[in-house]
Amino acid sequence: MSRGIFPLTNRVFRLKISSMTGGINLTEATFPGKGEILIYFTFEDTIKKDEKIKLLNKALKGRLEKRLGLFDFEGKEEQMIVLEGGEWYQIIIMIGAGKSTDFTLAKFKNLLAEATRKASSFKTKTINLFYFNQLGRDFFTIGKNLALGFHLANYQFIKYKSEEIKNQKSKIKSLNIFLEKKKTGFNQAEAQLKNGIKFGRLVAKGVFLARDLVNEPASYLHPETLVAEAFKIEKESGGKIKVEIFGEEECQRLGMGGFLAVSRGSERQPKFIVLKYSDPATKNLSALSLKNKSICLIGKSITFDSGGLSLKPSEAMEEMKGDMAGGATVLGVFKVLGRLGSLGANIADDVYGLLPACENMPSGRALKPGDIVTTVSGKTIEILNTDAEGRVTLADGLSYAEKYLQPGVIIDIATLTGACRAALGKKIAGLFGNDNNLVKEFKEITEEEGETSWWLPLYKPYLKEMKSEVADLKNVSGGRFGGAITAALFLSEFVKKSKWLHLDIAGPYFNSDSPYATVSKGGTGWGVVSLIKFIVGK
Ligand code: BES
Ligand code: ZN
Ligand code: ZN
Repeated sequence: MSRGIFPLTNRVFRLKISSMTGGINLTEATFPGKGEILIYFTFEDTIKKDEKIKLLNKALKGRLEKRLGLFDFEGKEEQMIVLEGGEWYQIIIMIGAGKSTDFTLAKFKNLLAEATRKASSFKTKTINLFYFNQLGRDFFTIGKNLALGFHLANYQFIKYKSEEIKNQKSKIKSLNIFLEKKKTGFNQAEAQLKNGIKFGRLVAKGVFLARDLVNEPASYLHPETLVAEAFKIEKESGGKIKVEIFGEEECQRLGMGGFLAVSRGSERQPKFIVLKYSDPATKNLSALSLKNKSICLIGKSITFDSGGLSLKPSEAMEEMKGDMAGGATVLGVFKVLGRLGSLGANIADDVYGLLPACENMPSGRALKPGDIVTTVSGKTIEILNTDAEGRVTLADGLSYAEKYLQPGVIIDIATLTGACRAALGKKIAGLFGNDNNLVKEFKEITEEEGETSWWLPLYKPYLKEMKSEVADLKNVSGGRFGGAITAALFLSEFVKKSKWLHLDIAGPYFNSDSPYATVSKGGTGWGVVSLIKFIVGK
């Protein structure tokens, strides 16, 4: 092997990340080294000047440039070609990353995920990546996105496949990143990068939990299953998270007439799950905290939505095991909240998580169209369509938060309306809120994290459509249009004191098409990454 073609051959570090344990290992190494797959990022404005490509081309006896020409590969965004790598690597995956000036870490994360998935189609165990300067200098965030891109692309939900098939599914075991060794070493940046990688791995674990819960069939996942998951999270949290469960009787006593009414058609008992994160160690820092107020996350947690007596048609019911995606996201966030502190996250605020968990089923006991229910707030709702159940359970969730917790910020996340999916498609969440700055802040976060959301209006004149003749509100508007907005307006009637955001994730909670970017098939875990960013600022 012709050593020395890379000027830095003897002066590189290899940072190895394991997909199984998340372990990180830094060793001295030589580049290019040998391996199965090399992932190489190129930019359309710098590809012609890229010295390493020239060297790689020379090492491959001119084959690289020929192939790039053959495929018209110019480093444009979404270009990806796979080449034989010659004596160092069996395969080289060239990724087009577009203009280096437009490059973002969210793009990096998504492209790395695409490349990781591509690599796993070759049944390889290890992939290699050459670090590049276009990633910038925020090493913590680089590390976080690196870990997210790699780990999220590696997700599979195969627990119900037969052993034979399971064994055939290959998973990338490790990612090596080659870092040029500067004269001064890589000390401070290295520590930040490593912390970021650990942080990203934890966040990915939260996303995995949310995906797993959404993917789990409704015959195996009930309100009690979410309770068990919450207790597991409490146990793992080392005392930072406390869980309280309200069964039917407590809910009755609290006046949760909406939530209980929705649950009544089911054989399964409803469970109102309350999680509270509070860290005594950072508590006294709360004066320093930007928000200086607690945050309450409320996740729609309908473990199966048949529609109730207003039964859904078959195709519309197919994905309704995932109607607890909001709750799954909240659990995903709590799963890792307690462990982020050691990586420099300052969670001075208390964080609450509420999951009003039940099934929406038809039966002789079920809620009937025309029924009127009373919520914790005292407001009454006329139920005209039992399939608009999420807003009824959330009405009690929101009222409970306002009455008993009085948080500074409430964020509800819900697979609320087919209308939102019709409006924004399957990759964008609807975002509503009663405080413009808060909405802007959150919108920006979702953009940075590559979890797209779009700001929709709480257009007051439409509220009329939700007023009932016989109760304070009705649960459907009766009109065919603007369903995401009227649903959000309905919810807004239960938020009177707090700043509030509402995320309608009926579009992006589930991916029934091919995987793309960091998004696997099935449950996506949409929101975990952004909510963690919102809570801990990283
Ligand atoms: N869970 C559904 C909304 C949904 C639809 C989520 C598709 C994910 C994908 C919700 O409970 C519902 O059924 N909403 C009705 C409201 C209607 C009756 C006003 C809807 O969107 O059709
Ligand atoms: Zn429904
Ligand atoms: Zn629903």
